[in-house]
Amino acid sequence: SSLRSTTILDKQHPVDEWTNITSSIISKIPLRLHTKTGHPLNTLRTLIETHFSGFSHVSSFSPVVTPFKNFDELSFPPDHPGRSVADSYYINKDLMLRTHTSAHEVEMFRKGEDKWLLTADVYRRDEIDASHYPVFHQVEGARIFDATPTGMQEVREDNERLASQLARSNIIIEDIPHISPTNPVQSLHDPEFVQLVAANLKLSLNGMILKLFGGASDVPLRVRWIEAYFPFTSPSFEVEVFYQGKWLEILGCGVVVNATLDTAAVQNKIGWAFGLGLERIAMVLFSIPDIRLFWSTDQRFLSQFEQGKITVFKPYSKYPACYKDVSFWLPSESKLHENDFCDLVRDTAGDLVEDVKKIDEFVHPKTNKTSLCYRINYRSMDRSVSNEEINSIQSQVVQQLKDRFNVEIR
Ligand code: PHE
Repeated sequence: SSLRSTTILDKQHPVDEWTNITSSIISKIPLRLHTKTGHPLNTLRTLIETHFSGFSHVSSFSPVVTPFKNFDELSFPPDHPGRSVADSYYINKDLMLRTHTSAHEVEMFRKGEDKWLLTADVYRRDEIDASHYPVFHQVEGARIFDATPTGMQEVREDNERLASQLARSNIIIEDIPHISPTNPVQSLHDPEFVQLVAANLKLSLNGMILKLFGGASDVPLRVRWIEAYFPFTSPSFEVEVFYQGKWLEILGCGVVVNATLDTAAVQNKIGWAFGLGLERIAMVLFSIPDIRLFWSTDQRFLSQFEQGKITVFKPYSKYPACYKDVSFWLPSESKLHENDFCDLVRDTAGDLVEDVKKIDEFVHPKTNKTSLCYRINYRSMDRSVSNEEINSIQSQVVQQLKDRFNVEIR
């Protein structure tokens, strides 16, 4: 970039060779959809908050964080792929946009909070289609207990209370052991306590899932627990819900790594944390067919929702799509990450791009050059677009490709 600084939330930041944040991403930062009354993302987060009674709520943290806070403080190894400029948005070498709400775990625990929820916008470079968007929203939740006999008794009693609530409901849970050789207890932890904490985590989340997906249906709700890995929890789990004929992955969670609590100066406690993405869940609960719709300011979208209520969205019409292909040779030795291509398109076309697919790739045997062909599908959520308008966007995309990646159009 030829710019020497970039302005984010009214603050100027120097740019450097790490900078990869685009203006289309910067324009989303002030919007904070999860705080807009009536917005489905806000309704969903409120429903989650009412399930976790007694938990404090926070939703005001800035997305601009240090890589230290997003990764190192959470025990990510130095070579973790999530750190790469291909996967995360960097403002410069020392500042980035958080990739998950876990970035604030240490900060929350340091405040002395034992039960908390945090909702925020998070940013990840990714492909483009109906269910991926580089900005999305997560809810993080955590609960910690005193690592004492009294604390243990408290968990036991809470587990009994939660289990008796679930026993009366129409839910089938496919569970796995709380602890296994591949999903171990941390060396500092008492396995008996971890069993209780993991049970508390599962009971709390099964209850939340039942509240969100259970409805009044006479068909039992199916939930399954899967072993997972996160650098900042052990044991770790993922949860899937069987909904409308498909298994839907809804969250990651686990027993908080002791180093996190240590960094937060919290001593002699043990507990759990979870993080869930709001968009995927809201898309199925409200029947929202495309993730871009959350960003729509069209009244035909916004007026269909009422704060606190899950209602079925009725698409107001699907405007015609229009696809354009672009084929090009990459200069030899050079690489174009798919996420770079997607950000370039996103930055030029904004929310008019619905889908980007690589439809061809080969290496010329003599020149060793790579040929790529991408198909870009354009469609507006709100109006018809003319072929001329799309042609003009497409030619800007082609120009940007030439200017920034030095490609040779075929
Ligand atoms: N931060 C994780 C993610 O974004 C989710 C998570 C949160 C997992 C808390 C464990 C504990 O995928």
